[in-house]
Amino acid sequence: MNSRTEKPLAVVRTRAALQQHVRTWKAEGETVGFVPTMGALHAGHLSLVEKAKENADRTLTSIFVNPAQFAPGEDFETYPRREDDDLALLKAAGCDLVYLPAVAEMYPDGSVTDVRVNGMSDLLDGIYRPHFFYGVATVVARLFLHAQPDVAVFGEKDYQQLQVIRRMVRDLGFPVRIIGGETRRDADGLAQSSRNLYLSADERRAAGAMFAALHRASVRLSQGALPSDVRSEAQAHLLRSGFASVDYVALVDQDTLAALPDDAPVPPGTARLLGAAWLGRTRLIDNLSVTR
Ligand code: PAF
Repeated sequence: MNSRTEKPLAVVRTRAALQQHVRTWKAEGETVGFVPTMGALHAGHLSLVEKAKENADRTLTSIFVNPAQFAPGEDFETYPRREDDDLALLKAAGCDLVYLPAVAEMYPDGSVTDVRVNGMSDLLDGIYRPHFFYGVATVVARLFLHAQPDVAVFGEKDYQQLQVIRRMVRDLGFPVRIIGGETRRDADGLAQSSRNLYLSADERRAAGAMFAALHRASVRLSQGALPSDVRSEAQAHLLRSGFASVDYVALVDQDTLAALPDDAPVPPGTARLLGAAWLGRTRLIDNLSVTR
């Protein structure tokens, strides 16, 4: 067993206390790996913690349900909050430190400064949740300034978020290496997500169709099928399987997220296929790479 898993997990709630820990580590020449989360942790988050441990000497996780990335009417109030369970999971995972800031710590009174990664934030999910990536970029920039990590790990499950953060880090010159963590899936392929807790038993049974539809589509695309055909098939698959509506099934450049042509086979290299669809009142997203 890693001797670090036997240590108590330190919990801090202020930027000053966080920086005390980080300063001490850095003075000892240790690097810091950071996993920002909104809590309600599952195996997917813990695999990101594992990745942070592999890439840095110390591991820090933040838990902060960020009001700036929820629009009025979205699930900010009801988003699952499970602090005790989360802390137990992080302790067992061998995380060194957890940052649990209050809203006023992240957004001091009168705070009016946002970070906007233009263009990329307005595509795909940004069409349906126009506030979302501005809220994410703003809070992640603030978290980076609070935590000053060397490495930060984000799940590929939120692929557009990962690319937006990579772009922000590049544009603003944050001295942080961004690492993508592979999506963790249930046995039927459903990508693990805190919002899966919202699904009823019937919805949970239907939810595996998101992975099945995207997987079939990615195989067809890699064999040279036309994106327009494959997208229609995937949408029909989702609707047939009980999804109420499909926001998008989209084939994009894996770095820029620019749409690839609908009427020509995927060019050689690696593209990304993303989907978002509603199952009852829950919106599921997922994505897979497409290689030719
Ligand atoms: O992916 C999430 O949990 C959140 O969007 C993040 C990156 C922690 C920012 O609030």
